[in-house]
Amino acid sequence: MLQTEQILNERYQLKQELGKNAGRQTWLAEDIGVSPPESVIVKLLAFGGEVQWDDLKLFEREAQVLKQLNHPRIPKYRDYFHIDDRLLWFGLVHEYIPGSSLKELLIQGKRFTHFQIRQIAADVLKILQFLHQLNPVVLHRDLKPSNLIWGEDDQIYLVDFGAVQDKALKEGATFTVVGTYGYAPMEQFGGRAVPASDLYALGATLIHLLTGTTPAELPQQNLRIRFQELVSLSPGMVSWLEKLTEPAPEQRFKTAAEALSALKSGMATSKSKASQLIRPTPVAFVNNSGQGGLLDARVPIPEEIKGWNWGAFLMPWLWPLTNNVWIGLLAFIPQIGWLVAIAMGSHGNEWAWKSRKWRSIQHFKAHQRGWAIAGILFGIPVSLGLWVALFSLFSAIL
Ligand SMILES: Nc1ncnc2c1ncn2[C@@H]1O[C@H](COP(=O)(O)OP(=O)(O)O)[C@@H](O)[C@H]1O
Ligand SMILES: [Mg+2]
Repeated sequence: MLQTEQILNERYQLKQELGKNAGRQTWLAEDIGVSPPESVIVKLLAFGGEVQWDDLKLFEREAQVLKQLNHPRIPKYRDYFHIDDRLLWFGLVHEYIPGSSLKELLIQGKRFTHFQIRQIAADVLKILQFLHQLNPVVLHRDLKPSNLIWGEDDQIYLVDFGAVQDKALKEGATFTVVGTYGYAPMEQFGGRAVPASDLYALGATLIHLLTGTTPAELPQQNLRIRFQELVSLSPGMVSWLEKLTEPAPEQRFKTAAEALSALKSGMATSKSKASQLIRPTPVAFVNNSGQGGLLDARVPIPEEIKGWNWGAFLMPWLWPLTNNVWIGLLAFIPQIGWLVAIAMGSHGNEWAWKSRKWRSIQHFKAHQRGWAIAGILFGIPVSLGLWVALFSLFSAIL
């Protein structure tokens, strides 16, 4: 019935049909009521037949909401009219945005780069942030590639407010099911759309752009869209998309602002922040030296001082003097002297830590280093000499 070049309401000359479904049409037209003529979009609804009150209600709401919205990335409302022909036609006129819808780009085989995906995501989130902070909140409810326009100015625009909701539904009230299967989340089909429902639809849209497959055709697991194997994204970006498309709305980002800041900070970096939190924080050093008996296992020994002690091994007989480890005196018994030396070498640090108070670990280490050097220079000859002498003495006595 409607044809190209036909003039509606005495000023809108139809140029090209852009969309058509049951009783509804979208046309690119020219507003010849202004000079020079301007390109506009005329959306038409034919009342009667398949189109019933619910559809008219949504159509009028689309016009009402669009009239009130003022955002640079949403087409501006221009006019609303009706034509009493054989059918009753309602017409909504709004600004035309030169460009192509993302659906058209997908059909043309366009593949989106990761950078472009992030850009689209950020642009749409900013528009959603605007809609969701309005009072009453405006929910788009039909976000998908065909309703996003990639403008000639390289900006992303949101169109088609034909499913919009601008009032909270009363409990138990009847509702019209709106949205598109695959993009709309489950809760929306139960008439409980929330701001996070638009976030889900954005997530599903981005997944479509990334995989080239509509979300309805993608495999699912536990109601989640499985896209991870089909894309090569950073782990941060994958978890961001997963969070956007969580089946339960309360598991998603709460607001567009939250999703936007997670996108900007990069969930990858927020993940590493999380692991920083999990990593055990270094325990403040507690100087517990000089506590407990030598064999008291409850006294924790600092990791840094554990290990072999050359000073204690080479001069077990002298070493007790400054370390208070009197057990070292047993080294004077020639028959067991070498055993004591080994015991001192392996446990000397631990025993010395327990046997006296040290100012710090550094103090302890410096002290032991000094004894090790002395051990090498004097300990070896003296030890040998001492043992030979003592051995002879003992043999002479016994
Ligand atoms: N303001 C606009 N500027 C440019 N193209 C538009 C505009 N509005 C709609 N379109 C194009 O027309 C198509 C159909 O319009 P839309 O409002 O989405 O109607 P429908 O309710 O039939 O989905 C869109 O997918 C988009 O490609
Ligand atoms: Mg549409």
